Amino acid sequence: MKKQITVGVIGCGYWGPLLIRNFKSLSECRLKSVCDLDIARVKHACALYPEVEGLTATERLIGAGDINAIIIATPVKTHFSLAKASLLAGKHTFIEKPMATSSGECEELIDIAKRKGLVLMVDHTFLYSAPVRKIAEIVQAGDLGEIRYINSRRLNLGLFQKDINVAWDLAPHDISIILHILGESPVAINCQGNAHVSPGIEDVTNMSLFFPHKRFATIQSSWLEPRKIREMTIVGSQRMIVYDDLQTREKIRIYDVRVVRPAHYDTFAEFHYSYHYGDSYIPHLQQEEPLSLACRHFIECIETASQPMTSGREGLELIRVLEGASASLKMNGAPFVFGANGADLAPAHSGDGAHHKAKRNPRTTRSSRVLVRGVV
Ligand SMILES: NC(=O)c1ccc[n+]([C@@H]2O[C@H](COP(=O)([O-])OP(=O)(O)OC[C@H]3O[C@@H](n4cnc5c(N)ncnc54)[C@H](O)[C@@H]3O)[C@@H](O)[C@H]2O)c1
Repeated sequence: MKKQITVGVIGCGYWGPLLIRNFKSLSECRLKSVCDLDIARVKHACALYPEVEGLTATERLIGAGDINAIIIATPVKTHFSLAKASLLAGKHTFIEKPMATSSGECEELIDIAKRKGLVLMVDHTFLYSAPVRKIAEIVQAGDLGEIRYINSRRLNLGLFQKDINVAWDLAPHDISIILHILGESPVAINCQGNAHVSPGIEDVTNMSLFFPHKRFATIQSSWLEPRKIREMTIVGSQRMIVYDDLQTREKIRIYDVRVVRPAHYDTFAEFHYSYHYGDSYIPHLQQEEPLSLACRHFIECIETASQPMTSGREGLELIRVLEGASASLKMNGAPFVFGANGADLAPAHSGDGAHHKAKRNPRTTRSSRVLVRGVV
């Protein structure tokens, strides 16, 4: 019989209880303990699940001999020290996004996990969601043609964070989706923003990520918008997708539209752009809570000693993009070129001029592997 994995969760604030609920509901593991510095949050979690042990000292949870895996859902500035202690104690570790506050911290965590043979997973939740899985599948099949650009908007009023700006809070979702869909890393980034409410903490940012072969992505993030917007447009040479995460049923719409420049013309009168207006359609999505799939994936990776789809490596790539965005913010939006400092991103592909073809997309290939394993 398979040995049940015993889990502990650190952080019972806003997001922690969702993880607690999901790990509690998985038959493949046993949620033994939860921990928070704030006793009121521990009492809240234990009132929901009386059989779970409540702690306020993280050392007790990390040091517990019978706990195999630790989930970290605390503020970003605490991720590194908690994850390091967890890995050094020999526990498989699941960290909430964003993985840490610097790429150096991420590299250290990846290194410890590798040395100790432990699973290190970062919760890039959206990659486990049905719409993003479907988009990756469509792009991978080449149905959109060449991806020209992606535009993403994640806007609403609040929740203001005290230790990170809106780019570090909201944009990780967009960045993780964009890197996953495009399957490569940006070569440069620029980011502009302003802190209107809390001094020094930008509450609105606009960033542009530049990829090889003239592809780019724009991400608008704000805590100051009257309407909640969660929208992404993926523009391909043959088709386009609009992904509206706030829709309950019709989250993805695929538009069979494109504009083609005539290959040859002799006179201006002959010159016409060719506009193609085809159908639009809404693919059926098998809805399942993305966080539940992410939690199951973590447990399955422990059982099978395999690399998660969103491992420390993907966490690190995302942090590097955020570091580039922060550097650009400090330069009032001047572009930050990765690689210029010698230690930044290397594009995920070699430049053979064909990596817009999604078949070569390593991230989507990785997601297919997950599908085969039956996790998502
Ligand atoms: N994946 C997602 O979609 C998603 C959504 C929201 C939040 N998050 C992430 O989850 C993490 C937590 O965010 P939140 O909104 O729940 O924050 P929160 O402030 O609501 O909760 C954090 C909790 O951690 C506790 N805490 C702080 N330091 C601690 C320590 N050293 N040891 C034990 N407990 C400690 C606090 O008392 C608090 O209860 C962040 O990394 C955030 O980015 C992810």
